Amino acid sequence: MGLEVVILAAGEGTRMRSRLPKVLHPIAGKPLLAHVIDAARALEPARIHVVHGHHGERVRAQFHDAGVDWVEQAERLGTGHAVQQVMPAIASESTVLVLYGDVPLIGIDTLRRLLDEVGTHGLAIVTAILDDPAGYGRIVRDGHGRIERIVEHKDATDEERAIDEINTGILAAHAALLARCLARLDNNNAQREFYLTDVIALAAGEGIDPGSTMPDDNDEILGVNDRAQLAQLESAYQMREAERLMHDGATLRDPSRIDVRGTLTTGTDVTIDVNCVFEGIVEIADDVTIGPNCVIRDARVGKGTRIDAHSVIDSADIGRDCRIGPFARIRPETVLADEVHVGNFVELKKTDVGRGSKINHLSYVGNASIGSGVNIGAGTITCNYDGANKHRTVIGDGAFIGSDTQLVAPVKVGAGATIGAGSTITRDAPDNELTLSRAPQQTRKGWKRPVKKQSGSE
Ligand code: UD1
Ligand code: CA
Repeated sequence: MGLEVVILAAGEGTRMRSRLPKVLHPIAGKPLLAHVIDAARALEPARIHVVHGHHGERVRAQFHDAGVDWVEQAERLGTGHAVQQVMPAIASESTVLVLYGDVPLIGIDTLRRLLDEVGTHGLAIVTAILDDPAGYGRIVRDGHGRIERIVEHKDATDEERAIDEINTGILAAHAALLARCLARLDNNNAQREFYLTDVIALAAGEGIDPGSTMPDDNDEILGVNDRAQLAQLESAYQMREAERLMHDGATLRDPSRIDVRGTLTTGTDVTIDVNCVFEGIVEIADDVTIGPNCVIRDARVGKGTRIDAHSVIDSADIGRDCRIGPFARIRPETVLADEVHVGNFVELKKTDVGRGSKINHLSYVGNASIGSGVNIGAGTITCNYDGANKHRTVIGDGAFIGSDTQLVAPVKVGAGATIGAGSTITRDAPDNELTLSRAPQQTRKGWKRPVKKQSGSE
């Protein structure tokens, strides 16, 4: 029996005051709707249906390869009406789970419990106890604790408004039961809407005892209506990530100052200083230390490596016991072997650096292959671009490149070669020899500095 997930996302999102549709606003670098779709996917449903509103093109365009079924709700006549739009596409023996495109942190364990409840009760909802239940639908239970109905805040009496158990909106039910109840909805209520919540009373009237479960954490059920709530959920998300990392054995200098926008895995005894941002897939091995203000995207960092303050690493593979930064920039397709040192104001791109090599100060090395035990002096630059094409620089093991050298690619420096400081190397330099290109130094004896002319002296 298949699971069919319905995600409601037809809201206008006016309070975001944005040209971007609400469900495309990001949390942890990922659109709200993507969080919900990912949670739904974890349940391995037969299909995911997204109900969108009148201007749904942008949302559809961004999720064109998400493999979801799009359903337009042309007129926004209420949550019950929104779910009705999908029912014709759903087989009666399925189970339907209703999620919200603007409730991004819903937990998979909570949803699994909800689906278990549906197994025994036929219909179940996620409820929560809130200190301030204002605005939410309230759960009305009978003397035996059975759920009788949900009353919307706007329709509730003072007595009902005193109930602190609220409807999160998330519901699951057998499709046949849901379809039957949806067909009987009316809009005789304060908002003139077809309420999904009225399904509860209709099912209870058929003798069904609706099941319920609560989220592990109330953050799971919070929705985003404005940018303040977006920021609040962003910090809730980041705090969870921080707790997970600490649980896995990482020391965070301040758990409220780390941002994970993707998937970060850390080994044991990793230390991360404040204000680091991790994007994409980042794997950090044991005993790595990361200084403050680093940005690391799609990278692997080997055991024992130290990355000092203000370093930016993008799509790179970094070996063990390396020293990077402060102020290093490592760009895509760079591979560092073990024990490599990359110092301040060094930019590397598409470069392989062999074991134990050092590029410590003020350099640009791109499209290069550098052997092991190489020392690249301060200010060395690979001139890899001729205005039209990029060319490679190859440096052999144990070479020593003097400071302020320009290596005009394509060019090779042999193993054990030494390049004299200040050279412009345009042809291959042989192994084990000193190569340099340098204008001979001159001294002009008795030369005098020009003196400024006195005005009116001529
Ligand atoms: C709904 C619930 C309420 C619950 C609250 C939790 C109903 C009648 N009430 O109220 O019990 O406490 O959520 O936040 O269900 N949507 C559509 N099409 C529509 C109407 C809504 O797609 O025609 C979508 C919205 O985009 C939104 C969600 O459904 O994501 C909830 O709609 P909203 O109008 O905010 O419902 P609430 O009044 O908050
Ligand atoms: Ca709402």
